[in-house]
Amino acid sequence: GLPARVRIHEVGARDGLQNEKTTVPTEVKAEFVHRLADAGLTTIEATSFVHPKWVPQLADAETLFPRLQGLADVHLPVLVPNERGLDRALSLGADRIAVFASATESFAKANLNRTVAESLAMFEPVVTRAKEARAHVRGYLSMCFGDPWEGAVPVHQVVRVAKSLMDMGCDELSLGDTIGVATPGHVQALLSALNEEGVATNVIGVHFHDTYGQALSNTLAALQHGVTTVDASAGGLGGCPYAKSATGNLATEDLVWMLNGLGIETGVDLGRLSATSAWMAGHLGRPSPSRTVRALVPE
Ligand code: HMG
Ligand code: MG
Repeated sequence: GLPARVRIHEVGARDGLQNEKTTVPTEVKAEFVHRLADAGLTTIEATSFVHPKWVPQLADAETLFPRLQGLADVHLPVLVPNERGLDRALSLGADRIAVFASATESFAKANLNRTVAESLAMFEPVVTRAKEARAHVRGYLSMCFGDPWEGAVPVHQVVRVAKSLMDMGCDELSLGDTIGVATPGHVQALLSALNEEGVATNVIGVHFHDTYGQALSNTLAALQHGVTTVDASAGGLGGCPYAKSATGNLATEDLVWMLNGLGIETGVDLGRLSATSAWMAGHLGRPSPSRTVRALVPE
């Protein structure tokens, strides 16, 4: 059966904005996060402590993150690729971090300037030190279904890197369909293979991009398998600057519409959330790609 409640891991402020060419002012980002919290989201990925040359849009992490404190009962995870990033995040009081690995060599190189093995070696001390600091650690795994350079990615290859992340001490694993090519059967096959190798469903989240319009179907397949953590981006913002053909994430509004219809709790107020995404679309100068936002907030 389906779960009674789903925890939405909102990535709009990070995955959503990281690809935007024009710099969004820090105060607009801060208001975005506050509005997402007002709409009932409780896990809001705030920003990344990566090299500012690699992701210029998020170069304001040091000024943004302190402005987000004081949001009651909201977790604010941040991306951290290495110890330098961890130092920056911990010094600002971050208590939830995420490392981000790749199932393929091509994307590890493009996104982290490392082989898969070198990037895992880079994450190891990050995870160890984060756990010592009592931070919660999410391990993202990108290109879990297909890769723009390598094509379809074999399940066993994904399982191998996933297990490395969990063995390192990650509390949670997020399966990224970075370029949105997954289909529901593939999702269920990967989840079953992970379970067989000892990665339990309750530590797994799913992270779908909607390039081929499959994100909701894939989410439903994951829910049927028992997954209860779903990543989504307000208004369907997003894409990865280092993966060609990565378009928007699953829109949080489209997800909430489906979950509401299924009677699954999320705590999210769809009206407030859609209004927030319409407001952000105004700042970015183009309409939201989310069908639900467009249906609920006529232009
Ligand atoms: P590198 O060029 O190999 O860096 O980049 P390095 O380790 O050789 O260091 C070079 C210089 O950068 C040094 O400075 C470091 O101090 C500095 P120098 O000594 O030359 O003056 N540096 C830093 N500065 C600030 N913060 C840092 C940092 N690290 C090094 N953290 C690196 C390696 C990992 C840093 C780089 O590749 C990087 O920043 N990559 C991030 C790419 C990124 O953010 N991609 C998007 C997120 S992943 C994603 O979107 C997928 C996801 O959504 C899931 C899915 O959809 O699949 C999560
Ligand atoms: Mg992503």
